[in-house]
Amino acid sequence: MTATPIFSPAKINLFLAITGRRVDGYHDLVSVVAPLGFGDTLQVEPSPEGRFTMECDDPAVPTDESNLVLRAATAFAAATGGRGGAHFRLEKRIPVGAGLGGGSSNAVAALRALNDRAGRPLAAGRLAALAASLGSDCPLFLHDGPVVMRGRGERVEALPAPAAARLRGRRILLFKPGFGISTPWAYGRMVAAAPRHYLAATEAEARLAAWLDGDAPAEDLLFNGMEAVVDAKYLALPMLRDVLREEFDLASRMSGSGSAGFALLRADTPTGAVTARIREVWGAAAFVTEAKIS
Ligand code: C5P
Repeated sequence: MTATPIFSPAKINLFLAITGRRVDGYHDLVSVVAPLGFGDTLQVEPSPEGRFTMECDDPAVPTDESNLVLRAATAFAAATGGRGGAHFRLEKRIPVGAGLGGGSSNAVAALRALNDRAGRPLAAGRLAALAASLGSDCPLFLHDGPVVMRGRGERVEALPAPAAARLRGRRILLFKPGFGISTPWAYGRMVAAAPRHYLAATEAEARLAAWLDGDAPAEDLLFNGMEAVVDAKYLALPMLRDVLREEFDLASRMSGSGSAGFALLRADTPTGAVTARIREVWGAAAFVTEAKIS
């Protein structure tokens, strides 16, 4: 087994339409999601005890069986009958409670590493089903570029190449305030406000198709149907997006259910000044980093 560090990227939702509630309690969505060049690293080492264990350089991240990395490893062992254990070392950079898919990405990095180590007993379809069983945002991380995600997140397809080319390589500024947001809470607010912030599936697909078929830039794709309910409680989020638009003419959106957001940078954007302004508005606890869409 190799202890080569595996890159575990963050994601952003450039387009996120929640189209309605399902009978299983989850929501159907149509989303364009892209991995970033920014993320965590995961190292997988042999475990002498034959168990699955992990450590993380961020003490705020739980390393017990509640961590999705260990749940992924246990699920992989159950699916393959594998008996070898592993020790995972996670170097955390992706903030948690951010809507950046950090935990989901880590879980898929673990799944891929274990599958590779075992000589790939799980083909793509079974790996995707296993990923979906771990979390709605997991399957997308089996792809290495921008995707369209449907269903509750389990139906994933690569974005057509010409559309992906309008996203790949775009520089963004990623930012998160000092607080995080619980995804179940945000979906709960969508239910409480229903049907106000659901976008009909036909309308979501029409908007997406219009962007895919044309040659409009990434800016024209940006949409997040969860912003309204999250903004109503966390006023600092829309306030910052207003500042970025008014003072720097930047298009920005929340990612997933927040609290992180991102702004699309242009060649002439004074990134240092924008970063300083975010820290001024949100305070020193704000996380800010530049990244690229992969
Ligand atoms: O799938 P995951 O465990 O990441 O989802 C966390 C929570 O987010 C779910 O319990 C549900 O409340 C909500 N959710 C949803 N519809 C989705 C994804 C997540 O309602 N498509």
